[in-house]
Amino acid sequence: DWTSSAFVETTIADLKATLGNDKVVLALSGGVDSSVAAVLLHKAIGTNLHCIFVDNGLLRKNEFESVLEQYKDFGLNIKGVDAKDKFLSQLAGVEDPEQKRKIIGRVFIEVFDEESHQIQDVKWLAQGTIYPDIIESVSVKGPSATIKSHHNVGGLPDFMKLKVVEPLKTLFKDEVRRVGTSLGLESFILGRHPFPGPGLGIRIIGEVTAEKVAILQDADKIYIDNLKEAGLYDQVWQAGAIFLPVQSVGVMGDERTYENVIALRAVESLDGMTADWCHLPYPVLAKISNEIINKVKGINRVVYDISSKPPATIEWE
Ligand code: XMP
Repeated sequence: DWTSSAFVETTIADLKATLGNDKVVLALSGGVDSSVAAVLLHKAIGTNLHCIFVDNGLLRKNEFESVLEQYKDFGLNIKGVDAKDKFLSQLAGVEDPEQKRKIIGRVFIEVFDEESHQIQDVKWLAQGTIYPDIIESVSVKGPSATIKSHHNVGGLPDFMKLKVVEPLKTLFKDEVRRVGTSLGLESFILGRHPFPGPGLGIRIIGEVTAEKVAILQDADKIYIDNLKEAGLYDQVWQAGAIFLPVQSVGVMGDERTYENVIALRAVESLDGMTADWCHLPYPVLAKISNEIINKVKGINRVVYDISSKPPATIEWE
C-alpha cells in the first residue's frame, strides 16, 4: 500500500546512505518533476545539492525571476544562469521546429556542462526522471525537458560521466504530485500548467527573434492572468499563446495597420496524449482579445484554436 509520506521517509534515508557527503548537481526547470526531486534531495543532503536554473530566454514573462525567488524561499542552493543571448543567437535564422528543438537542447547542455564545472568535486548528476520517461524516453515530438533524452546530441558532455541519481524513477506522475504535496510544494509548483522544454521557442512559428519573444510574452501574460482572474486557470490543463508568422490588415483610428496575429490555445486533457479544446466563455475571450490588441504593440488580430488532439497536436510546432 503506497503512501507518499512513507515514500518520502524511505527515499530520504536511502539518499543519505547512498550520497553520504558527496556533492550533487541538478538542473531545475520550474516543472513538477525536477522540483520534487530537488526538494527531496535537499531534505537528504542539504546544500551539497547544487541546483542550476537556466534562463534560455524562452520562458514566460518574468518567470525566471519569480521561479528562482520561490526556489530560494524553499531553501534550495540554486544558481540562476542568464543564457538568453546564447540561445537566441544560435536560433537566428532557424525556422524548422525539430531544428529549433535540437538547438535549444544542445545549447542547454553546453550551458549546464559549463556550470557544473564550476562546482568543485561534484560526484553525482540528479535527474527528475519518472517511470513513464524510462518507458517512453522521448516525447511524441522530440526530446523532453529531461537531460537524459538529449543523450544523442553531439559528444558526451562531462556531466554525463557523473554517477546518476534518480529518486523518482519508480513513480507515475500522480504519485510525484502526491509526494510534492507532502513536501509542501502545492502552492508554488504543482498547480502550474505543463510547459514544454523548448518553451516559447516552439510557440513562435518560424524564426525566433528577441522582438517576437517580447511580444509573445506580453500577450501570453495577458491571456494567463485573465484565465486566473476568471477562475478558469485550474480548470484548463494547458494554455498558451502562439505567435503566428502571418500579418493581416487592420484599422486603428483612421490608420490602416498591417500587423501580426496571436493564436490562443487552451486544452483539457489527462496526460497530453489526447486533448479537447476548452470551451472558454465568450466574454472572457472577448476581454483577452481586446486587451492583447490594445496593449501589445505589433498585434492587431487574435484567433482562438478550436482543434482537438488528434489530429491536431497541443503545440503548433
Ligand atoms: P503535443 O504538441 O505533442 O504536446 O500535443 C503534448 C505535450 O507535450 C508538450 N511538448 C513538449 N514538452 N519538449 C517538452 O518538454 C518538447 O519538445 C515538447 N513538445 C510538446 C506539450 O507542451 C504538451 O504538454
